[in-house]
Amino acid sequence: MILAIESSCDDSSIAVMEIESKKLLFHKKISQEIEHAKYGGVVPELASRLHAKALPKILQETKEYFPKLKAIAVTNAPGLSVTLQEGVMMAKALSIALNLPIIAVNHLLGHIYSLFIEKEEIKPMMVLLISGGHTKILQFNGVKNICEIATTLDDSFGESFDKCAKMLGLNYPGGPEIEKLALKGKNIVPLPLPLKNSSEIKFSYSGLKNAIRLAIEENKYKKEDIASSFQERAIEHLVFMSKRAIKKYRPKNFAIVGGASANKRVREEFEKLSKEFNFNLLYPEMKYTSDNAAMIARAAIELYKKGEFIDYKHLDVMPRVEFRKC
Ligand code: KG4
Ligand code: ZN
Repeated sequence: MILAIESSCDDSSIAVMEIESKKLLFHKKISQEIEHAKYGGVVPELASRLHAKALPKILQETKEYFPKLKAIAVTNAPGLSVTLQEGVMMAKALSIALNLPIIAVNHLLGHIYSLFIEKEEIKPMMVLLISGGHTKILQFNGVKNICEIATTLDDSFGESFDKCAKMLGLNYPGGPEIEKLALKGKNIVPLPLPLKNSSEIKFSYSGLKNAIRLAIEENKYKKEDIASSFQERAIEHLVFMSKRAIKKYRPKNFAIVGGASANKRVREEFEKLSKEFNFNLLYPEMKYTSDNAAMIARAAIELYKKGEFIDYKHLDVMPRVEFRKC
């Protein structure tokens, strides 16, 4: 079995997974959304203190599995350095106490493997990763073979929902709040389509954010109409750039992962694309879209099979690691 720890942002989570069967034996997560809500976003130092409380509490419940563990997996990159550090320190302590190797897992790789919890992996695959920290199109050819087709120049997709929600006086995290409010609104606010004159494949969400600020200041539109218009434009940009990548690389499998892959309008629009371009569309089960340790454990199984271990003395956090360009 592998025990996996996730603390890259504001979710403290631990999972235990059986290596051969990939069965998820234990999985618990303590989210800090309420604590950060009053600040309208994650406060790193507060998040770190909350991890220091929550992680040992969850770990206590996994003691029965300790004798059967073969490795400790931990998210060490990318994310907030002070929160990654909490998981990494716990992994080091467990590695020393139980005499086990460590498997360092990239959080984004974890999101890809959220598709394969208690399942076999599918490859090759083009992946659209939309979370609070990232907006990327990746080419996934296996656990050690991933490259980046596109990324964002500024804000991420999820982050733009969070910022737009904050401007509208909604709760954190903003994604689900905007999605809910948009159901009651109409797509009538004129907003720019980002990078529509660029011939490259890349994302940008900061212009849309500014357009929303101006629309709010105009005091002419209802909140629900702003939410609906913002969501539709934000998704249109995702689809526009994804279509470019799909036309160029013609993937057979296309996946959407990350916290924002929970958005139903995103899923609807990519369902349409999958019919137009005849690809197999994958997304994680709803319960695995946001940050969790089950996906870290699942990715770690593949790394375990490849003997990708690291000694606790050499393990470090890497808050800003990137994939190679395709
Ligand atoms: O993957 P995740 O849990 O954490 C990161 O690794 O960043 O993603 C969280 C992000 C937040 O920005 C949140 O607002 C966004 O995902 N999100 C959504 C939805 N649910 C979560 N964005 C749009 N629509 C949603 N339904
Ligand atoms: Zn994430």
